Amino acid sequence: MNEHAHPKSVAERADELEEEKMHEMERILTKSTIAHLMDGEVKMDTSPEMRAKYPGKYFLMGDDPRLPPMPQKPTLVDYFRHRFASTAHLLQSATHALKGGQPEKVVLACLLHDIAIVSFIRCDHGYWGAQMIEPYVDEEVAWAVKTHQALRFFPDESVGYGYPDLYKELFGPGYKPEPYIVDEYQRARKHKWYMTSRLICVNDIYSFDPNAKVNLDDFVDIIGRNFKQPKEGLGLDNSPSAHMWRTILWPTRFL
Ligand SMILES: [Fe+2]
Ligand SMILES: [Fe+2]
Repeated sequence: MNEHAHPKSVAERADELEEEKMHEMERILTKSTIAHLMDGEVKMDTSPEMRAKYPGKYFLMGDDPRLPPMPQKPTLVDYFRHRFASTAHLLQSATHALKGGQPEKVVLACLLHDIAIVSFIRCDHGYWGAQMIEPYVDEEVAWAVKTHQALRFFPDESVGYGYPDLYKELFGPGYKPEPYIVDEYQRARKHKWYMTSRLICVNDIYSFDPNAKVNLDDFVDIIGRNFKQPKEGLGLDNSPSAHMWRTILWPTRFL
């Protein structure tokens, strides 16, 4: 059958362009299985298949040339500037907390609360984000980041926090959180750091003034005082979550 008999879909055309681009590259780039799962396909890039497609080339085992270069010893600020796809929401939330006179711990929690979404994985972003930062921040900050994911779905009138209108728009009016989220909320309710996590929700603002000036530079000192930047570089240290940062640093490494 003539392959040109039917017009190519956008996805097919995108695949072709990706492949053309790959042929121009020095090295073979691979996608992780999770990236294919996210495209709705249960498949993986295997070495025989990839080597047949790009004969004579070696697999990429370092920097992805398509991504902004990172310094030898990257800091959290470098990840903000070169790996986080969007920082406005984080900066707006942290700015709101700062203006509201919150302690630095809360400001930092607001600044980092959605880092998993902007750099890594959406599903269960609170849990992923908390693990990413856990070795480098106060335990309370990591706990608050983990738990805000559940608290976001439950109102607390004592601090004027209602169920977000945006969630009705995004998920439909009848959406009910999964049982594990309900359980997390109930545990969090009784926890000594409940209010720290709740303050992330209170400052987690989506309809912020689009003209508000936010700048990462305003938070560099707070990060410096509250985030234990490893001297080897974030991801190149030996912390329990260094591999997560390395994966963001080198997302297309073969191994
Ligand atoms: Fe969040
Ligand atoms: Fe958020």
